[in-house]
Amino acid sequence: MSNLTSVVATIRLMASPGQQAAASRDAASRTLMKAAVYREYGPPEVIRIEDVEKPVPTADEVRVRIVASTVSTADWRLRKPDPPPLGWFMNGLQRPKKINILGMEFAGTVDAIGKNVTRFKVGDRVFGGSFRFGAHAEHACFPERSIARMPNNAGFEDAAAIPYGGISALHFLKTAGVKPGQKVLIYGASGSVGTAAVQLAKHFGAHVTAVCSAANFELVRSLGADEVIDYTKDDFSRAGRVYDVIQDTVGKSGFWRSMHALKRGGVYVLPGPGPVPVFGGLWAKVTGAGTVIGALAQGGVPALDFLSELVERGRFRPFIERRYPLADIAEAHRHAEGGHKKGNVVITIAPRTTSGCSGP
Ligand SMILES: NC(=O)c1ccc[n+]([C@@H]2O[C@H](COP(=O)([O-])OP(=O)(O)OC[C@H]3O[C@@H](n4cnc5c(N)ncnc54)[C@H](OP(=O)(O)O)[C@@H]3O)[C@@H](O)[C@H]2O)c1
Repeated sequence: MSNLTSVVATIRLMASPGQQAAASRDAASRTLMKAAVYREYGPPEVIRIEDVEKPVPTADEVRVRIVASTVSTADWRLRKPDPPPLGWFMNGLQRPKKINILGMEFAGTVDAIGKNVTRFKVGDRVFGGSFRFGAHAEHACFPERSIARMPNNAGFEDAAAIPYGGISALHFLKTAGVKPGQKVLIYGASGSVGTAAVQLAKHFGAHVTAVCSAANFELVRSLGADEVIDYTKDDFSRAGRVYDVIQDTVGKSGFWRSMHALKRGGVYVLPGPGPVPVFGGLWAKVTGAGTVIGALAQGGVPALDFLSELVERGRFRPFIERRYPLADIAEAHRHAEGGHKKGNVVITIAPRTTSGCSGP
């Protein structure tokens, strides 16, 4: 044994049990992280805060130290699941197998990168959204192609609330080909997708009618809506064929009512795929009534960059109704799935002081 090695061994032996315990706690904190984990389908209480292994990025991935995320409709739907076949297909028949940590959208700082990553370096402030989920944790790895730089003028909470509603609204309004001067009706204008759709339709130069309850009139007007209709009192289809585009963000506008309110050849947008876009779309095409769209929204980096630039120019702002710490995530789920959230529900993920990461 060399002199130096024997000195180190002696010092190790001299360390008190308390010091040794502290050292092993410190080592564990470098590989463990707090996460909101669900291992069975069910009510919000199935989510528990646990210490789990910190993920290691693969060659094409970026690891983000998550500062903020949201509980989106996708999160609570996958938790229940709702509708059941969607959850079973995506995440396992009897219990969630592929995804145990929810959280689709996120903002934070890059804290590790894979060897093929070229667009980011450690310390960059980034945001994004991914069907991989995993953002309800202190760290998560995402493919480089689902991440963009945060808007310069946005905080982490605002940035985390951009992708879900923003990408969906952008995808559908672009697919519908909204043009300046067109009349666009946003049905369900006060939710995550709705608050984004009102702003983006205005950005594209449309005349926007927002359908929501009267309690949300002030909110949607502040986002740019030209006219408002209270769905609890008035039927938006009563005035006849008025709208070039009807974007239903909550799937409750009703196919025939919407066809009645749509100009001939107009576009009716539903929040996702299903029998109505397929069979209703066929009917609308054959009769010349219009086009019906309902699919999964595509976005990626171009959409994130587009939204980021709008935020920097003051043309788009994600609306945040409530903020919850990670520890209260079950409460956040309960509110989000109540059906009446306004805009977005943000989860703030406190930095772990022993991890050695620098603050945002
Ligand atoms: N295809 C895709 O890729 C894609 C992407 C993202 C989202 N989506 C889907 O889009 C839908 C909306 O998501 P979201 O997160 O925006 O929902 P959300 O935020 O939960 O929507 C809540 C809002 O809906 C309003 N609302 C409820 N019932 C209504 C009704 N009968 N008429 C009008 N407004 C009503 C509520 O307003 P009041 O309180 O006034 O009732 C509330 O402000 C979900 O089904 C989601 O799965 C699809």
